[in-house]
Amino acid sequence: MKATAQIGVTGLAVMGRNLARNFARHGYTVAVHNRTPTRTKALVEEFGHEGDFVAAETAEQFVAALERPRRLMIMVKAGEPTDAVIEEFASLLEPGDVIIDGGNAHFADTRRREKSLRERGIHFVGAGVSGGEEGALHGPSIMPGGSAESYASLGPMFESISAKVDGEPCATHVGTDGAGHFVKMVHNGIEYADMQLIGEAYDLLRQVAGFSPARIAEIFRGWNEGRLGSYLIEITAEVLAHTDAATGLPFVDVVADAAGQKGTGRWTVQTALDLGSPVTAIAQATFARAASSQAELRAAYRGLPGGTTRELTSTEAERFTSQVEYALYASKLIAYDQGWKMILDAADEYGWDIDLGAVAKIWRGGCIIRAAFLDRIRAAYAEDPDLVSLLSDKGFAAEITDAQVPWREVVAIATRRGVPAPAFSAALSYYDSLRADRLPAALTQGQRDYFGAHTYRRTDREGSFHTLWGEEGRTETEA
Ligand code: 6PG
Repeated sequence: MKATAQIGVTGLAVMGRNLARNFARHGYTVAVHNRTPTRTKALVEEFGHEGDFVAAETAEQFVAALERPRRLMIMVKAGEPTDAVIEEFASLLEPGDVIIDGGNAHFADTRRREKSLRERGIHFVGAGVSGGEEGALHGPSIMPGGSAESYASLGPMFESISAKVDGEPCATHVGTDGAGHFVKMVHNGIEYADMQLIGEAYDLLRQVAGFSPARIAEIFRGWNEGRLGSYLIEITAEVLAHTDAATGLPFVDVVADAAGQKGTGRWTVQTALDLGSPVTAIAQATFARAASSQAELRAAYRGLPGGTTRELTSTEAERFTSQVEYALYASKLIAYDQGWKMILDAADEYGWDIDLGAVAKIWRGGCIIRAAFLDRIRAAYAEDPDLVSLLSDKGFAAEITDAQVPWREVVAIATRRGVPAPAFSAALSYYDSLRADRLPAALTQGQRDYFGAHTYRRTDREGSFHTLWGEEGRTETEA
């Protein structure tokens, strides 16, 4: 087998197959391999005309087909299957070669794998790939981590097959070891929050304004032309406008209202707890999916009293619609700010040098949260790379100011009417917590010192203190 392939893809399910096709369409010679060779054969038979494929039946043939330094992309299920495939190929590779994991691996696994393979002289690149099967074929957003040396050889290839926005690739070297998979995980956490916020906006327009799914689809179509414009808003209009062929009912009314989750949103929240990053909107979105799937518990709650409802006049309904737009946008801004802060917290924790503006830049296209809004974030970081919060940007601060009254009105109406809005409410409370002059955390510290002598700090002098709660006079001592 002559070594002619610039890239190899093993694992030819739809994502792997589409990435292989994307590389081939961009002029690369692509070695392709799959545990069951029939898939390899089928790919070349059906799409061989799209470019230069080298079909490999065995791992040895696959490796032999790759020019040096070998670049071998694994597209298999995250977890043990990935470990098994890495081991199968690592023993066939030589120092300087590169293994890329394009699956949704947990960043901690990627850090472990990168360290272990680095000790064998092999580069390991955990690359987040966002945009689903369509994105893999037509242009995903690609978030590779790993060594600078591996990106030197891989970067031009990823940039050529990625989505493009304003002629710029939606791919960049995110940072070392697990940084790429970490940022992909946060992308998915933000995706959960985005989807939950859209769901809450839909539910409020349905239950409070009394609009039909078709009418709400129109509203989302209109919002898609403005500052909320995004892939998720666009597909929401499509889903809400869809009629179920079997029943003639609105599609959204025949779908079981129990949300699934493959796990990346859960990982985001688990990791945020460890980092101390309060991603409250992402957490509420993840828990909302779990709550929706608690059939027995929901049955036990069903019928319990809720809020008060009354019909809105058409004028009130139109006004409410505008208020929901403000609430959705403001809540989205908070959710994104939480995600970016989490990336910053992780960069500090793991020693990654992540360009937060570049993350926004490569999320403008190709990925599931793609939106013009991300170019606003890119521009904010371009103006001030050390931005502490998106709300430190004048433009975003003005928008959150404009949203105050409607945002609070929508959360109040949702509460009064018993319409669940966990992510809207969490985003608003997060905002109010962070802008508060004083928080009840002072009382928490007093309680902790009372029952556990956990000490507290004071506002008027340095040091840690403990009050002798059980003694007369309750004097305090310097801890
Ligand atoms: C992407 C998507 C993808 C995700 C699925 C479903 O960026 O292309 O986020 O990676 O795994 O869309 O994820 P859930 O089952 O967790 O919703």
